Amino acid sequence: MSFRTQPLPPARLNRCQLFGPGSRDSLFGKMATSAADVINLDLEDSVAPDDKDRARANVIQAIGDIDWGDKTLSVRINGLDTPFWYRDVVDLLEQAGDRLDQIMIPKAGNAGDIYAVDALVTAIERAKGRTKRINFEVIIESAAGICHVEEIAASSPRMQAISLGAADFAASMGMATTGIGGTQENYYMIREGQKYWPDPWHWAQTAIVAACRTHGLLPVDGPFGDFSDSDGFVAQARRSATLGMVGKWAIHPKQVELANEVFSPSDAAVSEAREILAAMDKARSEGAGATVYKGRLVDIASIKQAEVIVRQAELIAG
Ligand code: COA
Ligand code: MG
Repeated sequence: MSFRTQPLPPARLNRCQLFGPGSRDSLFGKMATSAADVINLDLEDSVAPDDKDRARANVIQAIGDIDWGDKTLSVRINGLDTPFWYRDVVDLLEQAGDRLDQIMIPKAGNAGDIYAVDALVTAIERAKGRTKRINFEVIIESAAGICHVEEIAASSPRMQAISLGAADFAASMGMATTGIGGTQENYYMIREGQKYWPDPWHWAQTAIVAACRTHGLLPVDGPFGDFSDSDGFVAQARRSATLGMVGKWAIHPKQVELANEVFSPSDAAVSEAREILAAMDKARSEGAGATVYKGRLVDIASIKQAEVIVRQAELIAG
């Protein structure tokens, strides 16, 4: 570890972020009673340009009217390359109640994008005397975004989480696919006549995880478009969890339980983590830095790995 230690991410659950278009207010109540940890009311790409004003008004109304329980409540604003985003921020900050936790900034390209939104949000918070600070989450979904992911992670104390947005990312990168996440038919290797399909999102995910962990943010896997393919969703989510991501988006209610399941450590994993911690406590009391647990080496690094699992289990237990 360098002299500067790694900050812990926000101590809240982010196993599933459920999205719904701001223009479809009939969904809001269902989203509120879902099992998702985070709700993302969308003003961006699931809302047609002519519907932006109505969607914004719906969302502002719903923030106050609906009982969102203890969920993290986030609104995805429009991108900084559109004429809509400033009105999203101004109306949300001036008119929405204090229940709003977070703004999601899509298509972030560099730290300057976050700085711009931060400046506007800060001015309105002060002008309106808002006492609860609005946090930010960001989507990396462009070539520029992934090139600048570390400066984006470091851009503002409001930053809480970064997601990978596979569809826009693929378009920006010129990737030859129209799939939203998951394995891609033409991304394969051949060994001894057998095809297998590696994960084309792997490197971008890993870059996001590293930037988030460096700056104490939550790394999140974005959408999986084929909501009829539960196995594909689970496989993608398991790969993300293995790489260090803490959750995944749901673009259909079907995906919420799947994400919660993948990003909640199993009872067996939690028991094993606690046993490793106990084994290491015993080793340390005997002056040893390493010991054997179930026939394998555990050492001081294993404590930190086990603590990740135990911390998540404690958050889930409330
Ligand atoms: N949140 C909560 N409930 C939802 C929902 C959502 N995002 N999407 C659908 N539902 C509800 C439906 O209202 C329906 O409820 P009912 O059984 O009470 O009638 C049930 O889940 C089944 O819905 P279904 O008919 O399968 O889906 P649909 O055709 O109504 O909608 C989508 C499908 C994909 C258009 C819709 O899920 C959606 O808009 N998803 C979010 C898209 C989005 O926000 N994208 C931006 C991020 S990438
Ligand atoms: Mg997008």
